[in-house]
Amino acid sequence: MTQPADKADTFTLTDNRTGKQVILPVLKGSTGPDVIDIRKLYAETGCFTYDPGFTSTGSCESQITYIDGDEGILLHRGYAIDDLAEHATFPEVCFLLLNNHLPNAKEKEDFENILRRHSMVHEQLTRFYSGFRRDAHPMAILCGVTGALSAFYHDSTDIDDPVQRKIAAHRLIAKIPTIAAMAYKYSAGQPFMYPRNDLSYAENFLYMTFGTPCEPYKVNPVLSKAMDKIFILHADHEQNASTSTVRLAGSSGANPFACIAAGIASLWGPAHGGANEAVLNMLEEIGSVDRIPEIVRRAKDKNDNFRLMGFGHRVYKNYDPRAQVMRKTCHEVLAELGIKDEPLLDIAMELEKIALEDDYFVQKKLYPNVDFYSGIILKAMGFPTSMFTVLFALARTVGWISQWKEMIEDPQQKIGRPRQLYTGQTKRDFVPLAQRG
Ligand code: CMC
Repeated sequence: MTQPADKADTFTLTDNRTGKQVILPVLKGSTGPDVIDIRKLYAETGCFTYDPGFTSTGSCESQITYIDGDEGILLHRGYAIDDLAEHATFPEVCFLLLNNHLPNAKEKEDFENILRRHSMVHEQLTRFYSGFRRDAHPMAILCGVTGALSAFYHDSTDIDDPVQRKIAAHRLIAKIPTIAAMAYKYSAGQPFMYPRNDLSYAENFLYMTFGTPCEPYKVNPVLSKAMDKIFILHADHEQNASTSTVRLAGSSGANPFACIAAGIASLWGPAHGGANEAVLNMLEEIGSVDRIPEIVRRAKDKNDNFRLMGFGHRVYKNYDPRAQVMRKTCHEVLAELGIKDEPLLDIAMELEKIALEDDYFVQKKLYPNVDFYSGIILKAMGFPTSMFTVLFALARTVGWISQWKEMIEDPQQKIGRPRQLYTGQTKRDFVPLAQRG
């Protein structure tokens, strides 16, 4: 923390049941809201706090990513996301997240070489794929195969060894595109493509996904640039559900490959990383601009569970800065591919316009999020919808592993173990089977 507890500001709580006062330290970060340190609360009051969904709870100290949701600001290690998307490459951002500084030319080259050298997976791992049905969702495959890495790379699962932690991080970032592309190839019934060391990270992923052994595959530079940008925009997002899952899994001392598999599982849900797939399905279901009022009406109806996918965010109460970049990239990609009339884009833009002017969305501060435009770009690039969340997971792996490393290296780290408000049966006597009604 930035100041010792004895020099901190304080926060006084009064227990109205007893009149007892408890003085709690208030901790200050380098920016952002102050944090009330409640670690001694239970010992001093016998009470836990109650915050399902962690809407007011900080779970850790971190120096990786900062979000100001009201202002729509996202910084990685102090650098604005739009600056990174405009000027950096994804491997540079990976290096930054892991090491807290942008790489110089030599560090950049060395890091890219490390990623290249780790990009192949153990040959035996390729056989895992045939255990899956051909119609398996690629997220199911990604989750399973990533978890299985712990069965292959025993020399990087000792979490107490900093060298092994680093190697595990490099392996995960390097291998996840290979594993993801193989999931796609398996579903398409095409042969796996081995990674190519002459290509950049994004180019190589496109090559492994869309290339075949039958003919040379030429990577379109506009598309690889867009892919790289999409990876950057998804690289990290502080303590979201999947990252918190990775940290919680890792807090017990589980190996990093297993922790990342846990993160992938958490990301899959439609409220989180699964939203990009859900957005595209929703736009397709809307089908035409004239159906938008009906869909907006449904989204506002309290008795209807339907939500506008790609809108709203727990932290952003302003336009998601990633969505701004994504919107621009979307237009660039469609122009490059010569797609002049993309009905889904027309629907998306009209939906965005209507929602941004609608009282319900304005009052609840529901703005388009990162997933709103990403699906349209990915579809135009040729990815099936089922791969969208896989791409999110691929890019987020660096964020997860950086956060996992930070947690393991934090001297205050403890196993994560929330408490509960118990509302079940209190103790009662056992009823023998014959006496149960
Ligand atoms: N459409 C319609 N109403 C919404 C929406 C939406 N997309 N999102 C939130 N609301 C309403 C919600 O019904 C609630 O209304 P009320 O206060 O009257 O009960 C209010 O806004 C607050 O919503 P909440 O569910 O309490 O907010 P949350 O912070 O728990 O949820 C969210 C955030 C992202 C899960 C939610 O906005 C949502 O489900 N959005 C659609 C899914 C989506 O696009 N997810 C991707 C998030 S960005 C990528 C990522 O980080 O993974």
